Amino acid sequence: MKLLITGLTGTLAPKLAAAARAAGHQVLGWDRQAVDPQQAHAAQRWLSEAAPDAIAHLAMGGADWAAMLASHAAERGLPMVFTSTAMVFDHQPDGPHRLHDERTAKDEYGRYKIGCEDAVAAANRAANIVRIGWQIDAEATGNNMLMVLDEWQRREGKVAASRAWIPACSFMDDTAQALLRLLQSPLPGFVHLDSNAQEGHGFDRIARALLTRFERLDWQLEVHEAYRHDQRLLGGELLMPPLSARLPGLLD
Ligand SMILES: NC(=O)c1ccc[n+]([C@@H]2O[C@H](COP(=O)([O-])OP(=O)(O)OC[C@H]3O[C@@H](n4cnc5c(N)ncnc54)[C@H](OP(=O)(O)O)[C@@H]3O)[C@@H](O)[C@H]2O)c1
Repeated sequence: MKLLITGLTGTLAPKLAAAARAAGHQVLGWDRQAVDPQQAHAAQRWLSEAAPDAIAHLAMGGADWAAMLASHAAERGLPMVFTSTAMVFDHQPDGPHRLHDERTAKDEYGRYKIGCEDAVAAANRAANIVRIGWQIDAEATGNNMLMVLDEWQRREGKVAASRAWIPACSFMDDTAQALLRLLQSPLPGFVHLDSNAQEGHGFDRIARALLTRFERLDWQLEVHEAYRHDQRLLGGELLMPPLSARLPGLLD
């Protein structure tokens, strides 16, 4: 299939592109310098000419763009995934969070993603609105838990990790594979992809397992309880491998 992936200069989209190419699919990106998604007519014309067989909308950008992509997919009966986030749920009320729980985000990013979820759902009832947690990868720069903890160590001289936070999180390669499977066998509506959903490891244990697995021997782990949140995204446990499959140290 010819798969349109938005956000290809980002963190996660290149992983999905690599997985799609490895599975024999053709990958098409959206060059926002050449075609501004805000220019609705030009954007729609480009999309019609590009004629993808499926759409994976991973880019940030406005709800209008998300709605336009979702409408295009709906009109042509194309599979579509849109990546949302565990951050649509605030820590109060606490999780774990189920597919149809009320979305309670108070911060700007979470509210923005709720707006995009609503825009996609209104335009296309068959679209997969996929909430994911914090992504992990050995190399990707950007919003990657491993690299962010490296940055904390550099900046703060320590990695402070709350044992009272059970984060939604997954390895990027697993998320990419799951997104690809959803494009091939859609599950219309909301989908949760969280490798920590079943096992429920605390952030302190995950940080320690990352330290071991990726040999971050310089990390000074400081365990606290200041942030409390069971952020797990329930309902998609069968779609993802458990976190311990990637971080065996979690079972020690
Ligand atoms: N990384 C995580 O841990 C994580 C966790 C939960 C959810 N997510 C979600 O997963 C998706 C991918 O995440 P990511 O970490 O790869 O994001 P990212 O690194 O921030 O990349 C997003 C991409 O979106 C495009 N973009 C940025 N600003 C834009 C704007 N104002 N208008 C339109 N496009 C813009 C850019 O790609 P182009 O220049 O190629 O267009 C950018 O590289 C996002 O929807 C994110 O919310 C990620």
